[in-house]
Formats: sequence, structure tokens, C-alpha cells
Amino acid sequence: MKITRLHGFKDMFHPETQRLRSVEDTVRKVFERFGFSEVIIPVLELSETYSTGLGDTTDIVQKEMYTFETKGGEWVSMRPEGTAGVVRAYIEHSLHRKSPVTKLYYSGEMFRHEKPQEGRQRCFNQIGAELFGSRDPLADSEIIAMLWLAVTELGLSEHVELELNSIGKPAERELYKKALLEFLSQKKDSLCENCRNRLTTNPLRVLDCKTDTCVELTSGIPFSIRDYLSEQSNGHLDALLRSLEEKSIPHRLNPRIVRGLDYYTDTVFELTTDKLGSQNAVAAGGRYDLLVGRMGGPETPAVGFAMGLERILLLLEKTGTRRNSPGKKQLVCIIHIGDEAREKAANIADDLRRKGMRVETEYENKSLKSQMRKANRTGAAYSVIIGEDELRGKVFSLRNMKTGEEKTIPLEKLAALGGHGDFRKLL
Ligand code: HAM
Repeated sequence: MKITRLHGFKDMFHPETQRLRSVEDTVRKVFERFGFSEVIIPVLELSETYSTGLGDTTDIVQKEMYTFETKGGEWVSMRPEGTAGVVRAYIEHSLHRKSPVTKLYYSGEMFRHEKPQEGRQRCFNQIGAELFGSRDPLADSEIIAMLWLAVTELGLSEHVELELNSIGKPAERELYKKALLEFLSQKKDSLCENCRNRLTTNPLRVLDCKTDTCVELTSGIPFSIRDYLSEQSNGHLDALLRSLEEKSIPHRLNPRIVRGLDYYTDTVFELTTDKLGSQNAVAAGGRYDLLVGRMGGPETPAVGFAMGLERILLLLEKTGTRRNSPGKKQLVCIIHIGDEAREKAANIADDLRRKGMRVETEYENKSLKSQMRKANRTGAAYSVIIGEDELRGKVFSLRNMKTGEEKTIPLEKLAALGGHGDFRKLL
């Protein structure tokens, strides 16, 4: 029986792995410029980390978590996102005592049992950032500026749009929800089945439903959440918008952005694109001033976001955005003829690798032609050729694979090569 991977899970190989790591690296460097440091949190947490953190009625907690009972009788879940785990760690290690403001970032796999489609897997990678300890709209603005700089450095800023909204504090939101419920209940029959259910769980989510009839219906809502926000919440949003203007970060206020997680207060935002079909958010986040308190820590305001790395890769591909791949070291192939040379080649390869060079050689005896073919196929810059004659004469042949230039050189010169392995000088 052939064992296959799980549905919605993906294996990734070179060069995609390299692309993913390079994107991650670019974003990581941007985060570090803003003073964020890395936190590594477990992939598995007690299920209550997420049910308390994300909210019992959210789609993630109700339908999408990989949850199971351990042999020790604990209910645990694979992380569906990073924020709740980072908050748990922030509280558990009393990080608020160490510094008034804490800036953390993380990256890794998240697990959600959703229906797989393009841009949506059951296991995907996020890189995310969380800033704890500031209520100031300038903190929201800094987080958004960091996201914007990251997509700019990825070469994608032209292909994405920053959409933001405020969903206020829970009490303000409740008033808005009530008005929304009244409005939508009258037109219940025009809603999709999912949204009809949402009327009882979270009517706000009807606003981000993509079904045509729901979009049409919600377009006609004669009031907006801003009508229900307190002066303080409206002021927060205005200050954020002003700051984004001053930083020349393009953005659009979109009252439909409500987010699917329960922890948000005030600012919410999504970085969307029209190039990925319905899975159009490449990053998303917002403020969550009540979450640390709700999870048992001291009241601590916070704001953050996470970026979906596979969606960024898809967007790079769809838009043909070329990124300078970090220059890979040039490859050297050690080609050997005969048993003695084969062992010598293994030792030379080991020596050159210790010096920092990228080296390939065959384990088995193969013809010169076949080894040459492989050197060409793998894009080797140089070949070091050792046969019986060379061994006897304590020399090797060095071949520039591009120009075909070849020269016989004493073996000791190979041993004396520096870390940069400048073969050009030998030819
Ligand atoms: P989220 O909107 O659930 O937010 O996910 C953030 C990003 O992860 C999405 O915009 C998308 O790019 C990517 N993503 C989500 N689900 C999938 C999937 N099934 N397949 C591929 N990519 C996916 C959060 O996770 C929050 N923790 C963000 C946050 C951090 N808010 C505050 N701090």
C-alpha cells in the first residue's frame, strides 16, 4: 500500500523551499529593523489556549482545529494561528515585567481543517508579529508600516491593497451587531445558508461573505459601524489614518473588514490582492487590547498581524515578480576515474566543503562522460578531474565548465586553496 500525505497538506522541494525561506528571510529582516525579536512557541498547545484566545464561536475553534486527547488525558490542539500561543507565552513568562513594550515575531506551520483550494491549505506557513504594551494609534501605524515595508521589499506593493476598519470595543460592537441583526433578519431569505447560521453566531461575519446575494444585500445597509463607535474609538481610527497618510502608506477604509477571530478591538486590517481569486488576503491583523487579560494576564493592549507565506509565493508567481535569489556559492564537481581516485575524490570533496565550498562528487565508479554530463546538468562552474595518471603524478586537471579551458595543476595547490576557493586563479 502506498502511503500518501494528508489531503490539504503539501510537500515542498527546492526551489520552492528556497523561495519560501528567502521570503521569510526578507520579512524577518524588516521585523528586526523595527526592533522585533523572534519567539519560538510550540506547535501543540492545550486546546483552551485557542478556545479562550480565539473565541468559542469562531469558525476556527468550532470546525477547523486539529484537536485530540493525549495518552495523558489532556485535550490539545495543533496551532491554527500564532497570536494565542504568543499571548500564552507572554503571560506565562511575565514578559510585561521585563519591559513596558514587547515586540515579538514568529514563523512556522499552522493547521486548519478547511476545505483545500488554491491559496488555502490545511497546513500552511505564517510569519507574524505581535506588539504588546501600547494603546497608542502610533503602534498600530508602526505595525502597518512594517507590513507595508515587508511587501515593498518583496516587490509586491503594487499588487496588494491595504484595507482597514475599526470594529470598536465589545460594547460598541454589540450595539452595531444588534442593528445589523435587525436589518438582516428582515431579509433572511436572501442570505446564503452559512450566513443564515451566522445570524445566530456572529452577524458581523455576514459582512465579509463573498456570496453574490449576501454582498448585494449588505451593500444596501444604510448605517456603518462608525455610527456606533465611541468618540475614543473613532479618535483612535482617525489618528491611525492620519499617521498612515503622513507615512504615505496607501490604504482604503473598508467597513466590510470584520475579521473571523473574536479577539480584535478597534483596528482591523487585511492586505488583499485581486490576483488570487477568493483567497485574497495575503496578510491580516489588528488590535487586541483585551486578549492578554482574557487569557489570565494583566490588562495589556496589543496589536499584530500575520502573513501567509504560501499565498505570498503564489502572488510572486502570478505577478511574475522576480526576486534576487541570494547568490548561491558556485558548484565544483570532483570527477574520478578508478577506485583509488574515487576515494581520493571523497577526501578532496570533504576538505573543500570544510573550507566552505559547495562540492558534488559521485559515490560510485562512473564513466568520465557520465560524470561530465552530471557536472554540466548541475551547473558546476569548475570540475576537478582525477584519474590514475593524475594520481601517479600528484596532479589534477581543472576544467572551467563554461569556457572548456583545462589545465594540469599540482594537487598541493588544491589543498592550499583559501576559503573562497578561487579556482580562476589556478587556471
Ligand atoms: P488570519 O487572517 O487567520 O489571521 O491569517 C493570516 C494570514 O494567514 C491570512 O491572511 C492568509 O494569508 C494566511 N492563511 C490563513 N489561513 C490560511 C490557509 N488555510 N492556507 C493558506 N494561508 C492561510 C491570523 O492568523 C491572526 N493570528 C493574525 C494576527 C496576528 N492578528 C493579530 N496578530
